Amino acid sequence: MFKAFKKPQKTEIDIEKNVPRLHDLFSPDGLEERFDMLALGASKYCRVYVLTVYPREISVAWLDRIFSLGSVDLSVHVDPIPDRKIVYKLTEKVASAQAQRVVDMKAGNILRLPYLENVIGDLESVRSAIQTNRERMFYVTVVIALHAFSEEELERKSNILDDILARNSAYLRVLVMRQVDGLKSALPVGNLVIQDYNRNLTTGGVAAMMPVSNPDLSHPGGVFIGYSMFTGAPVFYNSFIGPPHLPNQHMACFGFSGSGKSTALKILVARSTLVGIKSVIIDPEGEYRSMVEKLAGGEVVKIAPGRPTGINPLDLETEEEKDGREVINITDKVSEIRALFSAVVQNSAGRGLDPREAAMLEESLREEYDFRGIKSNPDSLYEPGGKSEDGKHYISPVRKKMPTLSDLYKRLIAKPGCSDLAVLLKPFLAGSSLGMFDCQTSVNLNAPVVCFDLSDIRDEFTRFYATFVVLGWAWQKFAQKERHVRKRIVVDEAWMFMKYNESAEFLEIVARRGRKHNTSLLVASQHIEEFLGREKGRAVISNCATIMLLRQSPTVIDDVVEAFHLASGARRYLEDFVPGECLLSLAGATTAVRISFTQYEQPFVTTTPGESAV
Ligand SMILES: Nc1ncnc2c1ncn2[C@@H]1O[C@H](COP(=O)(O)OP(=O)(O)OP(=O)(O)O)[C@@H](O)[C@H]1O
Ligand SMILES: [Mg+2]
Repeated sequence: MFKAFKKPQKTEIDIEKNVPRLHDLFSPDGLEERFDMLALGASKYCRVYVLTVYPREISVAWLDRIFSLGSVDLSVHVDPIPDRKIVYKLTEKVASAQAQRVVDMKAGNILRLPYLENVIGDLESVRSAIQTNRERMFYVTVVIALHAFSEEELERKSNILDDILARNSAYLRVLVMRQVDGLKSALPVGNLVIQDYNRNLTTGGVAAMMPVSNPDLSHPGGVFIGYSMFTGAPVFYNSFIGPPHLPNQHMACFGFSGSGKSTALKILVARSTLVGIKSVIIDPEGEYRSMVEKLAGGEVVKIAPGRPTGINPLDLETEEEKDGREVINITDKVSEIRALFSAVVQNSAGRGLDPREAAMLEESLREEYDFRGIKSNPDSLYEPGGKSEDGKHYISPVRKKMPTLSDLYKRLIAKPGCSDLAVLLKPFLAGSSLGMFDCQTSVNLNAPVVCFDLSDIRDEFTRFYATFVVLGWAWQKFAQKERHVRKRIVVDEAWMFMKYNESAEFLEIVARRGRKHNTSLLVASQHIEEFLGREKGRAVISNCATIMLLRQSPTVIDDVVEAFHLASGARRYLEDFVPGECLLSLAGATTAVRISFTQYEQPFVTTTPGESAV
C-alpha cells in the first residue's frame, strides 16, 4: 500500500499586497447613505444635487459662482445627440407648430399667432444651424456635490447654494434616496449613474456650463493676467476687491533683470484701463511709452533736462473735505514746497534750509497766492470771463495763471536778506538744466493713463529732483482726487526710489494712505535687497497685500524665502522660473502663475529688441 504523498504547496509572494491603489487615495473613510445626504467617515458630510431647471439665458462660466462656497464638486456630463435624430425631432416640432397655427387661424384665435410664429422661427433657426454644421445638440447632466465638516455647515451651505442658483433662475433637486448614485456620478470618472435628468443644449449652451476659473484665483471684476501653473485655470486679479480676499490694493513685484516684471505691470495696467482703473506710471527706463500711446487717451510726458514738462509744483487744486466741501489748502501746498526745497537743497548743496530761510520761502509763496487773490475758496482759482491777458475773449470764468518758480524767485530776491536762498533756487528756473518744472501746468489730468518718461535724465541728482516733483504731483493731483475712481500709481525700477530718504518716504506714504483714497501702489524692483535692507522699504512691502515674485537671483533667494515666509519648496520655483512665471501671493495664499499676453499685445509689452514696438 502506498500512502498518498502530499506535495508541499509553494507559497506565492504577492508583491502587490498592501500597496496603495488609486482608489485608496480618494475613497472616503466610510459611507453611510441617509435620506438626503451622505456621511463620509468622521466629520465629513456631503449632499448631492442635480440641476433640473436651467436659466433661460446663461452667460459663460455662470456656474463659477457656486465655487465661492468652497468644497464643491461640479460634474458636467455631455453626450452628443446624433444630428439626424435631432433634425428629425425638430422637423416634427416645426410641423406640429405650423399645424397648430393653421388651426388657430381658421378658428379666429389670433392672440396665439405671434407666439406660434416665434416658436416656429426659433425651431427653424436651430434646425438650419445644425444642418449647416454651425451648431450641434448635446444631452447635458449637471451634478453638484456639496461637502462640509458638520451637518449644520452642510445645511447652511445648501441654503446659500439654493440662493445662488435662484438668483440665476435655476433650480436644483436633492437626489433623495439616491445619494450614492449621485456621488458616483459626481466623481471624475465619467460614470453617469443618474440618467434621468438630462437636458438638451446647443454647443453654446454646453460651453457656458463649463467652469472657467479657479475659485481661489478668480476675483469677481478682475482682469485676466495669466494661467495657474498647477491647474491651468485662468487667473483674474482684482487688486481693489477688498477684504476678505485682499486687505489692501497694493502690489510689490520682485525678480531679477529680465524675469518679466515690466511686462507683468504693463499687462496689468493696460487691461485695468478697460475696467475703468486710471493709472499714473513713473517710468525711469522709458519702456511704457509705446503701450501708453496705444491706449485710447493715454498721455506720455517726457521729462528731459531743461525742457518744460507741463507740471508746475506751485499749482493748486481743490480738495474734497470729509463733509464733501471743496476747499483750496494753501497751508499744505506751502509746507509741501518747503519740504521739496529742503530735500533738494540738502541733496545739491549738502545742507538743509535753515529756519529763517524756510520761513522766508513760505512767506514769499503765500504772498504770491495773495497777489493773485487765491484764498481757500475754490472760486478764487478763477477770474470772470471777458478779455484776458492773451487778448482772447472768454464767456465763462477762466482759470487764473498760477505762480511759477520764477515768480517765487523774483519775490525772494527782492526781499532783504534772502539773496542766498534765491541763489539756491536759481538752478531750478526755466533756461537751466533743472528748469523743467518752471512752467504752467498743461498735463491732461483726466487721461486714463499718464506716463512720466524719465529715461532722458542721466545724472542722479536731476533724476532725484524730477521723481520727487512727479511723485508729489501724482499723490496730490491724482491719488487724492476723485475718491470714487479706482486709481493706480505704478513705480517701475523702484529700487532707485529707495536710495533717497525722501522718495522712499513718499512710497511709504502712498502704501500707508493710498487705500483711503482708492489708490493702489504698484512697485516693481529687481533689487529686493534695497527694500528688505531699509525700514521704509520693509514698510512698503508689509503694506502690500499682493506680492509677485518672479525668478530671483541665487544670492537673494534665502532672504526672499524668509522675508515672505515661503515654504521650502518655493525655492525651486524661484530658481527655475522662465520669464513671466511667478509666485503670486494674495494676502499670504501663494500659487504659481504664468503671466500671459496675446499676440496683439506682444509688441507693446515686451522689451526684447526685435519683439518690442519701441
Ligand atoms: N509673461 C511673459 N511671457 C513670455 N515672455 C515674457 C514674459 N514676460 C517677459 N517675457 C520676456 O522677457 C523679456 C524681459 O521682460 P521684462 O522687460 O518684463 O523684464 P524685467 O524683469 O522688467 O527686466 P528689468 O529688470 O531688466 O527691467 C521680455 O522682453 C519678454 O521677451
Ligand atoms: Mg523692467
